[in-house]
Amino acid sequence: MPKQDEQIQRKLEHLFLAEKYYNDESFAGFDQVRLLHDALPELNTSEIDLGVDFLGTKVGAPIYFNAITGGSKQSERFNSELSKLANKFDIPVSSGSMGVYFRIPETAKSFKVLRENNPGGFVIANVSAKADLKKAQRAIQLISANALQIHLNVLQELAMPEGDRDFHWQDNIQEIVNNIDVPVIVKEVGFGLSTKNIHQLEEIGVKNLDISGFGGTDFAEIESARNHELDLTYLDQLSLSTVESLIEAQSSSQETNIFASGGIKTALDVVKALRMGAQSVGISGLALHHLQKYSFTETEEFFETLIVEIKIILAAIGAKNIAEIKKAPIIYDPDLINYAKQRKIN
Ligand code: FNR
Repeated sequence: MPKQDEQIQRKLEHLFLAEKYYNDESFAGFDQVRLLHDALPELNTSEIDLGVDFLGTKVGAPIYFNAITGGSKQSERFNSELSKLANKFDIPVSSGSMGVYFRIPETAKSFKVLRENNPGGFVIANVSAKADLKKAQRAIQLISANALQIHLNVLQELAMPEGDRDFHWQDNIQEIVNNIDVPVIVKEVGFGLSTKNIHQLEEIGVKNLDISGFGGTDFAEIESARNHELDLTYLDQLSLSTVESLIEAQSSSQETNIFASGGIKTALDVVKALRMGAQSVGISGLALHHLQKYSFTETEEFFETLIVEIKIILAAIGAKNIAEIKKAPIIYDPDLINYAKQRKIN
């Protein structure tokens, strides 16, 4: 793999800085949301089924490893380990942005491991919103992807001195959505989607959205640490938390599939996001942190426990399956109600 390439260097810095700024605490707003338990749930825990439909495929649990990386030897290791975990838990796994592969085809291997380690699993390709239809097709082909993610990352680009400055993306997204034969998910990268954005995307035919809100990995902070001229960390104050963005998504069309990510740290965060309308919940920073700080086996045990804890919480709220989570009473704190009122969302 070429060593001195700037794009590859940037991706390596992302991995390093994501760990440097990793916080065990979540700022995604889940502490502003309560679920109430059920003292008479009328179930046996052995009846609980965490299986869920993910874009037409039944998977083992309502979580997925969201986009992180690709392009270098280190990325290859993380993609290899993430795909082994995805295979073990029967959950979807996404590639990091495949832009580097279009420029440097020798980086293909760092992405292909996602499919090689997980031949029958649900694998998602990832491209930027400016990648054209041909590139989107090449990305899908390389890893025989079951779905395509297109990422929206305006705040991140603005925080990068070498970042894009032209954000005319909608025509390109529409072209891809109209011509690609796998489901397309449009996602943010940790700053959230507003009601306006959700409706804009719905209007151009996007049926699957990952609101990826603020509260975990913070690309304003990460890119500012790489930018030696300007500290633009404050741009993150313009973001919507994951919980706020899930409130915004309540005005989405019935046909739109909403996925949630951003600052997911615990099983309770997962269940709260599902209760707020997510079909499945994406995890990036938490998984990368474990793979960087601990061994593969320890990471595997961590996710095994997380999945057991999701089951325990379902028992506590009287839900035998993911659909029944919707019956759990939910309480928002006054700040969140105020947010919803000002945003004119019930
Ligand atoms: C990301 N994320 C990301 N998203 C994307 O669509 N394409 C990408 O290439 C990347 N790259 C990337 C690198 C690293 C190191 C991290 C940690 C994350 C964003 C990711 O998919 C997710 O939207 C956010 O990180 C928010 O989720 P977490 O990290 O708070 O769980």
